[in-house]
Amino acid sequence: MTKLLVVATGNQGKLREMQAYLVNTGWELRLKPAELEIEETGETFAANACLKASQIALATGNWAIADDSGLQVDALNGAPGVYSARYSNTDSERIARLLRELGNEVNRQAQFVCVVAIASPDGAIVLQAEGICHGEILHTPIGDGGFGYDPIFYVPEKQLTFAQMTPDLKKSVSHRGKAFAALLPQIEKLSIFD
Ligand code: IMP
Repeated sequence: MTKLLVVATGNQGKLREMQAYLVNTGWELRLKPAELEIEETGETFAANACLKASQIALATGNWAIADDSGLQVDALNGAPGVYSARYSNTDSERIARLLRELGNEVNRQAQFVCVVAIASPDGAIVLQAEGICHGEILHTPIGDGGFGYDPIFYVPEKQLTFAQMTPDLKKSVSHRGKAFAALLPQIEKLSIFD
């Protein structure tokens, strides 16, 4: 039996990506209604993911899934963090601001973090998982793929930036890929109780 899982996003691309992670789980993913806007008021990725999943579940009366993610730069005390999307207006402006604020700082250590949460129709959070990918911030962007901060995020283990990776390679090392990999076995257990 397929079960409906409403995704707390208006973004088709995110829906497709999540559907690919959750393929063969018996869940059918659907975009949230466009008029439902949830403000990300939390101070952590977990708080925002839970807030979005819970509010969308309550508003639609369905199971709901949400993720929240962003980039934490050590020398900037974890900024832009939960403000990654709001750091500036476009991807290139966000990258320019980050590089400007980091300047010639020698410590370029950073990590992408992603938290995924699933809420039951009564708004209760039943599952939560986190994924982290460690890397370094380059001085100049490299690569054409991906989105967001991908061209300045270098993963030493692969000797590539996120923007140079194929979608499959990025999926295997990224914060989002790891969060979903951690969520999957939990989802399988959850289905037992249906
Ligand atoms: P949200 O999780 O949709 O709220 O987006 C968080 C923001 O973090 C995005 O708009 C991007 O700026 C950034 N971000 C999250 N994941 C990635 C990634 O995999 N690559 C590049 N930027 C990312």
